[in-house]
Amino acid sequence: MNILFVADVFGPAGSRAVQERLPGLREELGIDFCVVNGENAADGRGITPKLADRFLAAGADVVTLGNHTWARSEILAYLDSSDRVIRPANLGAGLPGRGLAVAPAADGTPVAVVNLMGWLFLDVPVTPFQMLDELVEEARRRAAVVVVDFHAEATSEKIAVSRILDGRVTAVIGTHTHVQTSDARVQPGGTAAITDAGMTGPHDSVIGVQADLAIRRMRTGMPVRFQPATGDVRIEGVVVECDADGRATSCQALRVSVA
Ligand code: FE2
Repeated sequence: MNILFVADVFGPAGSRAVQERLPGLREELGIDFCVVNGENAADGRGITPKLADRFLAAGADVVTLGNHTWARSEILAYLDSSDRVIRPANLGAGLPGRGLAVAPAADGTPVAVVNLMGWLFLDVPVTPFQMLDELVEEARRRAAVVVVDFHAEATSEKIAVSRILDGRVTAVIGTHTHVQTSDARVQPGGTAAITDAGMTGPHDSVIGVQADLAIRRMRTGMPVRFQPATGDVRIEGVVVECDADGRATSCQALRVSVA
């Protein structure tokens, strides 16, 4: 089975790239299952129901989120009703949505997707380590193929989680930092991993934001309203190949120039 993970979709440019290019990319790469991280899709922060629906229509089987999950209030009810758009499981109990989805691949094989957020340098009420084992065991009871989107800031935490889960899941894909790392690999236990899958969006930017605005805020410390950039749009992500038992056999970073 070939699994495509599309890295953090940023703003209108990234959203457009997914809608226009994902169907062709699925075809071209022989993709059986696709996960899209959409947490920066709506102008750089959060996602709207309309964008989530468009990503699903373009070929995403599951959409994952991250630290900007609550940025758009209209997504709250949607998260409660959707079984394909998920948010980090460790955002706290009693909140809308869930952190685990199971959806069929092209041939009907169930694939579980787990979304968790890192603890270092990010505000999470529950550390991923407190719930990771239980969540992954639940995913494994429901599917042999399990993909984990670990949305985190620190490379050390991302590598630690990929080590903890080696041999227990198909892939641990790091997201959030928007710069693709050159460590796509299959670990000894058969779990594919990459520290960060990159960004689907405008790379002529400061991780998606118009560079002059990000720089002005950094230089002055004054509040500056960020705008998504538009130039050098790429689709970035990872392609993981795995066997029916869920063991990964290859893990390749993907970078496609769109405009
Ligand atoms: Fe993020």
